[in-house]
This record gives sequence, C-alpha cells and structure tokens, in this order.
Amino acid sequence: MLSIQNLAAKYGPSQALFDVSLDVSQGEVIGLIGRNGMGRTTVIKCLFGLLQPCAGSIHFDGADLAGLQPYRIGRMGVSLVPEGRQIFPTLTVEENLLATASKSGGSNPWSLHTIYQLFPRLQERRSNMGNQLSGGEQQMLAIGRALMTNPRLLVLDEATEGLAPVVRAEIWKVLQRLKEQGLSMIVVDKNTKALLRLSDRNVILDKGVTVWRGTSPELSAQPELITRYVGV
Ligand SMILES: Nc1ncnc2c1ncn2[C@@H]1O[C@H](COP(=O)(O)OP(=O)(O)O)[C@@H](O)[C@H]1O
Ligand SMILES: [Mg+2]
Repeated sequence: MLSIQNLAAKYGPSQALFDVSLDVSQGEVIGLIGRNGMGRTTVIKCLFGLLQPCAGSIHFDGADLAGLQPYRIGRMGVSLVPEGRQIFPTLTVEENLLATASKSGGSNPWSLHTIYQLFPRLQERRSNMGNQLSGGEQQMLAIGRALMTNPRLLVLDEATEGLAPVVRAEIWKVLQRLKEQGLSMIVVDKNTKALLRLSDRNVILDKGVTVWRGTSPELSAQPELITRYVGV
C-alpha cells in the first residue's frame, strides 16, 4: 500500500534524512521508532507533501507522491494525527469533526455517529470549544477528526504524548480497535512497550537512517536494540 524508498530530506542546508525505507501493507500497523530528533516527524512531513524530499521515492497504491500537494495526498486516503494535536480551538468538538468530514458518499465507515461510538466522551463534549477540552479529549478529537476523512492509512505522531496513564491506555485501546477493523497505521510513540503490543512490524531510525526493520516479536526479543536506539 505504501512504499518509501531511500528517502532523504533537508531543512535548508541541514540534512535531516539520509536513507529511510519503510513499507506498509494493507491492514498492517508499523511502528516508527527512534530517539527525539532522529527524523520520525520529517518522514511523516515528506509523506504528506509538507516537505519535498531531495532523494528517494514515496508511492501510495503504486502512485508516485512526488510533488503532489498535501490536500491531494489526503484525498488519496492518507490521514495524519499531527504532533501537538492541532485541533481548531474556537470551533466546537462537532464543528472540528465536520470540518474534515469526507464528502464522498455511501460507503464511508466514519460519521459523527461512529466517531461518538468510538469516543463517547466526545459526544458528551460535542458543544464545547476545542480550547475547553482536556489534553486527552483533544487527542481523541484529533483522532476523530483524522478518521472523518475516511483514511485507508492513518498516521499518528506522538498521539499519547503528555497524557495521563489512564487516558493513554484508552487511546491504545482505540488504536487496537481500529487495527481490528483492518485500518493500516504508522504509529510514532515514545512508549515502545505499548507500541510493540499494537504494531506488526517496526522501523528504527537513527540520525535519519533506517538502522533496523523487523517484526514486533523480533524486536521485543532484542531489548538491547531498544536500549541502544530509544533509551530506557
Ligand atoms: N523545521 C525545521 N527546521 C530545521 N530543522 C528541523 C526542522 N524540523 C526538524 N528539524 C531537525 O531535523 C531533525 C529531525 O527532526 P524530527 O523529524 O522532528 O525528529 P523526531 O520527530 O524523530 O523527533 C532534527 O535534527 C531536527 O532538529
Ligand atoms: Mg517528532
């Protein structure tokens, strides 16, 4: 479904990615792992057309994404839950959800109704403004908003960052449920233990280079890799 090959990218003169390869098959969850500053968000920016790579390729369903505008890439079925959530603070919960709703009819699995089933808390808060929500509610809203575009590939960048443990656990549970429904995902998260319970395969980045790729059982069996590339 997604194939990223030998990706390189720069911010002005400073190179952030040197050689990153990653692929996602239908229904698969991929963990994108590495310390802070190793290039995880930069890979995501390239995928969504927010940063033009200087080398390598990105194909989604066989289509080359090079040079495509972010909105075109979104329409192809890729959706982002960005680092820092970035919900609309002065719109209500419901307005936030409707703002990204996909217009293509009929077979859409996601609607206000199904989002509220997934996150009953959002239904209770439907008339509250984005800036009146707790961190956990904002994160649920950010996920709900991404789902409203009816993605086939959902990308989550630090979705449990800064949340209380009980709220984090709820987010992981929801992601597990989305996986069971067959949604493909790329997940970036500092909590490697929780991530490996969800992911099928993983890619470790170190200084903008893919240094390891393998299944979650393989990585769980090599804690020294996690210590080396993520810390404890
Ligand atoms: N907008 C930017 N301008 C310049 N350098 C950046 C910018 N964003 C990220 N970087 C640099 O690129 C590298 C990778 O960053 P990033 O992809 O955000 O890492 P991660 O998401 O893994 O923490 C880091 O060295 C970071 O300082
Ligand atoms: Mg990041």
